[in-house]
Amino acid sequence: MVGCMAPARTDVTDQLIANATRDAASGVATPQPRHTVRLDSFPRGGVAAVFGASGGIGSALSAALSDSGHFDTVLGFSRGTTPAFDLTDETSLAQAAELMAGAGEIRLVIIATGMLHEAGALPEKSWRELDAERLARAFTINATGPALLMKHLLPRLPRTGKATVAALSARVGSIGDNRLGGWYGYRASKAALNQLVHCAAIELARRAPEAICVALHPGTVATPLSAPFASASGIAPAEAARHLLGVIDRLGPQDTGGFYDWRGAPVPW
Ligand SMILES: NC(=O)c1ccc[n+]([C@@H]2O[C@H](COP(=O)([O-])OP(=O)(O)OC[C@H]3O[C@@H](n4cnc5c(N)ncnc54)[C@H](OP(=O)(O)O)[C@@H]3O)[C@@H](O)[C@H]2O)c1
Repeated sequence: MVGCMAPARTDVTDQLIANATRDAASGVATPQPRHTVRLDSFPRGGVAAVFGASGGIGSALSAALSDSGHFDTVLGFSRGTTPAFDLTDETSLAQAAELMAGAGEIRLVIIATGMLHEAGALPEKSWRELDAERLARAFTINATGPALLMKHLLPRLPRTGKATVAALSARVGSIGDNRLGGWYGYRASKAALNQLVHCAAIELARRAPEAICVALHPGTVATPLSAPFASASGIAPAEAARHLLGVIDRLGPQDTGGFYDWRGAPVPW
């Protein structure tokens, strides 16, 4: 899973690497031929990490990052790793950030977590289905958790050289693009995520002018998240990962704070 090992990594880092390897190997998608991505805009070495490495897109991103061989260490965090990373537990987020910083210079972080449906509860079709607990849960997973993770990671980014934090958002979080309505909690929590990313990018630019913080829409991808929606004939996660890493490689400091799709085109707020 890792191109070259960081010389001084901890046992826990080893465990995470192993977990991420398993996550990637047990991805939900039909195995696809791998095409090595290039990430030459980043300084060689350092650490990359995928948060949500057990997910459909997250596992494909982990595999592609490892195959690239660009970073010394590629870590994958999820609720199944040791230590566990859970968006509802800030202590676990702080611990993951500390672990990542201990493994080397943080160059790339992809937050690939997210929730559209849970425990059989499909997204709301009407205001009649609005429920305080479900709304709060959507905000916790899709907005608050990633924001708290940024709180612990952004101060640890190197002050010079390209470093990127990309949070996977969704085009349906765009208010300007919302013509169909519905999916209240998911749409609103992704819109909140976008605002949190934009705020963080402004603050980050003051201490690390070459660093980048963005929200990305991966396209419709065949994963457990999109599975209940038969009309969503998505692309394979491996293809989505290639697209996303291509966009990340092309981003420069002038793009920080933005919301881009898998082609790199800006998505309206
Ligand atoms: N698939 C699409 O068509 C599509 C379209 C637009 C946007 N997106 C976005 O892309 C991202 C990845 O989606 P996906 O399709 O890969 O979904 P997925 O396969 O369902 O993966 C979701 C990931 O989020 C993690 N997660 C959920 N709750 C968590 C928690 N409390 N703490 C830590 N991790 C948690 C899951 O971990 P566990 O394995 O522990 O559950 C899993 O790794 C999401 O932000 C999603 O909104 C996807």
